[in-house]
Amino acid sequence: MTTRYRVEYQLIEWIKGLLAVPFVLHSQPTAVYQEHSENLIAVAADTHQRYAEIFRDVETLIRDHIKHEQDDAPGKSKLKLLVPSVGTFFTTLYLEDAFKYQDQQRFISRRRFVAPSFNDVRLILNSAQLFGLTRSTGVDLVTFDGDVTIYDDGACLTPDNPVIPRILRLLLQDRKVGIVTAAGYTEAGKYYERLKGLLDAMHDSDTLSDAQREGLVVMGGESNFLFRYDSASPARLTYVPRSEWMLEEMASWAEEDITQLLDIAESSLRACASNLNLPVAVLRKDRAVGVYPLDRKISREQLEETVLVVQNTVERSEVGSRLPFCAFNGGNDVFVDIGDKSWGVRACQQYFGGIERERTLHVGDQFLSAGANDFKARLASTTAWIASPRETVQLLDELEGL
Ligand code: IMP
Ligand code: MG
Repeated sequence: MTTRYRVEYQLIEWIKGLLAVPFVLHSQPTAVYQEHSENLIAVAADTHQRYAEIFRDVETLIRDHIKHEQDDAPGKSKLKLLVPSVGTFFTTLYLEDAFKYQDQQRFISRRRFVAPSFNDVRLILNSAQLFGLTRSTGVDLVTFDGDVTIYDDGACLTPDNPVIPRILRLLLQDRKVGIVTAAGYTEAGKYYERLKGLLDAMHDSDTLSDAQREGLVVMGGESNFLFRYDSASPARLTYVPRSEWMLEEMASWAEEDITQLLDIAESSLRACASNLNLPVAVLRKDRAVGVYPLDRKISREQLEETVLVVQNTVERSEVGSRLPFCAFNGGNDVFVDIGDKSWGVRACQQYFGGIERERTLHVGDQFLSAGANDFKARLASTTAWIASPRETVQLLDELEGL
């Protein structure tokens, strides 16, 4: 996969490597203490101090990186030398405070056998981003991925889902909310099926004003179909014609190019499925083409191989250089969509009157290498990388606490 897909991944691995040094040197796995002894607590305090210093140093490097980008010297920062694939940060990341917060939650520095992990660092980065948003700018728009972020993979948003009251809370605070999902349907009814719990709760709420209800949109197919909340519609959503929300650059996406790109992607998917003997069917849509399993699950390696083959084939085609697209591994299927979530998030920002990148937060689960579709949102907004719907709920409560 291209290095772009590894940005977050490399930054996290690099920070993890920095933390491994004090862990190895200071944690004392072989020392025999009574648990909670004075000595154990003193060692943990010392380790905490050293981890905190590392996060403070990384925070300083990120501030310096931001400054270089503002001073029109992108690529010249020390951080860029250390982590060449690092991208743009839209706010300061308060890593030292975030570490202190997460250490209280996860007792990272009390551990003697397990070093600070990828997940520890990922969650610290999320907290640092929330501090960055609330201390320097404020959050006007929160966009959510669907599968794995607000409901389980392939599931629906049922009325008992604890994320529902949290999303209502955002709307009540006059914030805007977008569900930016790859799931691409042209009919509002299909989204009603997937999001029924939330849409019904919005409809039934006594506290939400009509204006606040209008703060919710659904962007389907990454950046292809926009629906706004509409109490009068039986599906509680109304399709918004493209002409009303399209970004200027999208106007140049010619229909013939879209068809041609999807044709290339489709034949590549078919060839790959035949080569790997995958038990899949091909699904061709208006703005997407994908393969999904007929009976048994497809292995991760086969899914990733398929993503890389199709991504590479389309990238090398002439139309692939004109038209943005997104090939990704959906967990048990592979899809190629026209556009990607950076366009989807930007379209939501524009729809709500031009909300800035540094006042937008995208929450998603797909930021890892080999075909991850939330990663592209990183170009359009700040992001939080969660691993389950439960983590999304925790993140929203953390935001509220700030
Ligand atoms: P997300 O996690 O909300 O972005 O949803 C991704 C999932 O939506 C994919 O894994 C597919 O199972 C499903 N899906 C349904 N229709 C489409 C489509 O048109 N493009 C991409 N994914 C789709
Ligand atoms: Mg997802």
